[in-house]
Amino acid sequence: MKNTVATFQQMKNDGQKISMLTAYDYSMAKLMDDSGINGILVGDSLGMVMLGYTDTLSVTMEDMIHHTAAVARGAKDTLIVGDMPFMSYQTSVYDAVLNAGRLMKEGRCHAVKLEGGATVCPQIRAITDASIPVMAHIGLTPQSINAFGGFKVQGKTQAAAQKLLDDAKAVEEAGAFAVVLECVPAKLAKRISETISIPTIGIGAGADCDGQILVYQDMLSMFSDFKPKFVKQFADVGTAMKDGFSSYIQEVQAGVFPAKEHTFQISDDIIDQLY
Ligand code: KIV
Repeated sequence: MKNTVATFQQMKNDGQKISMLTAYDYSMAKLMDDSGINGILVGDSLGMVMLGYTDTLSVTMEDMIHHTAAVARGAKDTLIVGDMPFMSYQTSVYDAVLNAGRLMKEGRCHAVKLEGGATVCPQIRAITDASIPVMAHIGLTPQSINAFGGFKVQGKTQAAAQKLLDDAKAVEEAGAFAVVLECVPAKLAKRISETISIPTIGIGAGADCDGQILVYQDMLSMFSDFKPKFVKQFADVGTAMKDGFSSYIQEVQAGVFPAKEHTFQISDDIIDQLY
């Protein structure tokens, strides 16, 4: 099935859960697409899990376009969402439309994501007016890490919970086709999901969101710098990879690899006539 913003909305209307993962390259996108994932986010989390920064703030438009284009070449049926990096949309509505346009035109994504609630609604409205679907992102928004003072659960006080609900209504009103809820208490995420009509995609926001998203390195145990509480490890690919690397090293050292079946042959006559 070809996944689009319309099928995402239909899934919410039908009570079907939406599955999303992050991906950053061609091979991984192809594997996920073959597995039947509904959506891939080329997240600015690539700054941490692919590029080794301690946060997402240094990620550039060029980084995002480069990785989004690779994912787009690998995924055929999946809705691809490109993440707008820090300072590519906060500066002005004009910058937001220009950079969203670049991500779609050069990265070939089907939608863009940006962080923030009511304060970025002018950007959401202008980008959607340019026929570029927008996924909003509220709760723990990692580009605001310095304002939050760390990676913390959001919406825990009465005022903060009300602000999150108001932000969710505001981004829907501005035209977002879906909204990520990150690190939000489960009961609040449920209330938001029941209140707005666009799909909510949760990460650390409980089971009552309309869909879920995880960073693939987290759910495959490939990233060990830290492990958020909301991550479930669905496979231990990190250990499988390390085992594979160790076997390769041992076989190279022992001269066992490459064996005859991995080797190209030539007739002895040719070799004998070399001078
Ligand atoms: O950048 C990212 O991967 C994200 C998800 C965690 C939602 O924003």
